[in-house]
Amino acid sequence: MHDLTTQDSRRTSFSIPNSRHLHVVTYGCQMNAYDSDRMADALAPAGFAVTETAEAADLIILNTCHIREHATEKLYSELGRLRVLQQARAEQGGRLLIAVAGCVAQAAGEALRARAPYVDIVLGPQTYHRLPDMVARAEAGEKVTQTEFPPEDKFDFLPEATRPQSINARGITAFLSIQEGCDKFCSFCVVPYTRGAESSRPAEAILAEARGLVANGAREITLLGQNVNAWHGLGADGAVWGLARLAYALAGIEGLHRIRYTTSHPRDMGDDLIAAHRDLPQLMPFLHLPVQSGSDRILAAMNRKHSAEHYLRLIERLRAARPDIALSSDFIVGHPGESEADFEATLELIRAVGFAQAYSFKYSSRPGTRAADLPDQIAEEVKVERLARLQDLLRDQQFAFNRSMTGRVLDILFTGPGRQGGQLSGRTPYLQPIHLNGPANCIGSIMPVRITEAFANSLTGTFEKERACA
Ligand code: 5AD
Ligand code: SF4
Repeated sequence: MHDLTTQDSRRTSFSIPNSRHLHVVTYGCQMNAYDSDRMADALAPAGFAVTETAEAADLIILNTCHIREHATEKLYSELGRLRVLQQARAEQGGRLLIAVAGCVAQAAGEALRARAPYVDIVLGPQTYHRLPDMVARAEAGEKVTQTEFPPEDKFDFLPEATRPQSINARGITAFLSIQEGCDKFCSFCVVPYTRGAESSRPAEAILAEARGLVANGAREITLLGQNVNAWHGLGADGAVWGLARLAYALAGIEGLHRIRYTTSHPRDMGDDLIAAHRDLPQLMPFLHLPVQSGSDRILAAMNRKHSAEHYLRLIERLRAARPDIALSSDFIVGHPGESEADFEATLELIRAVGFAQAYSFKYSSRPGTRAADLPDQIAEEVKVERLARLQDLLRDQQFAFNRSMTGRVLDILFTGPGRQGGQLSGRTPYLQPIHLNGPANCIGSIMPVRITEAFANSLTGTFEKERACA
């Protein structure tokens, strides 16, 4: 469906002089990081250049996260600071527009307006392609709110992402969003409400974006989606492809050496995707596969639709396909109803799997989710104590995993300079950060490195054949 408002606004925005600055602050997940880049792309034709400082900006966008309460509180304290900046600017006869994007905007649009009335634009994640129009209206003095899910697909209207966007300035490792939203409705999670129903981009659009990123220097692409392995996009052949088929097609792009994807759900980890891990050297041996809990009772209360046993069998099948695959997960402690025995079952699952790294959180009640209304909410001090025990175990496992690399030779993708002079930073196939001395011309190359020392969060090593860097 065509949306004339959007198209018209895109056209008028081209006449605006290129003299303004945009500063985007990103909270939360990698999906938000990708979206922040897309918003900058959407505003570039309207004359906005990106600045790294809030003080130099004419428009500041806070791209928010609603996943836990803590994330929301961070937004409000940042908004308080920006208000001071906005007032100071006004006293000098200038203007600073403040926009709040992302999941808090989507979930709490009206509440946000009431709590921070000086915010000029409130926009949900599905409306970023309409930003030039919203900014023009805000500049004319309107307070703009766009949190409905629009009928058009934003990806059809956003400028194509070929500029190397990403977790490092040179774009050697890039993000590519292929899927959004979620239909799973886990008891604790706001995503199905803030990001909407699951939707997949077509294969051809993804492949074209990937080719563009590689042409601009990307050597590694991480496919993003809230439920990335549920991706099912239309292929050029008219068939509906799954993620495995997409991975094989991406592996055919020359110059794309590494493919990753995140975040996956255990229910959608099909045999074909497991086989792709066996077949494709480009598919990195690292998988973030959240399990949340090791107790079947809590998994059922969470509406996860899998048991601990199902997860363990899945790990076995993955390891049979790709023996060195490293695993990562998300855990929540203190979901309503979690007993000491339930928590022990989670520790047991962690011991049974052995994770290379993991994220863990105290359960945080989110308004509107099913778990928020459950009886038997867990006391804060119990959550704190359980989280500490869980994180001790995970930290030990991560360190043990890192230590198991010493003496081995790993292929390192060098992503940029290190923090100290003469140092380079890179990533192992297992996503571990590595820092070592080496020449800058190795940045962008994949080189064998012998691991000499392991730390809690990173590795170091020496080049096997440094002179080969072109
Ligand atoms: N409380 C705590 N953690 C949560 N997560 C999602 N919702 C909540 C919540 N309400 C965690 C889950 C998810 C990760 C992205 O954030 O572990 O996998
Ligand atoms: Fe949230 Fe569950 Fe969907 Fe993940 S699968 S985004 S935790 S509802």
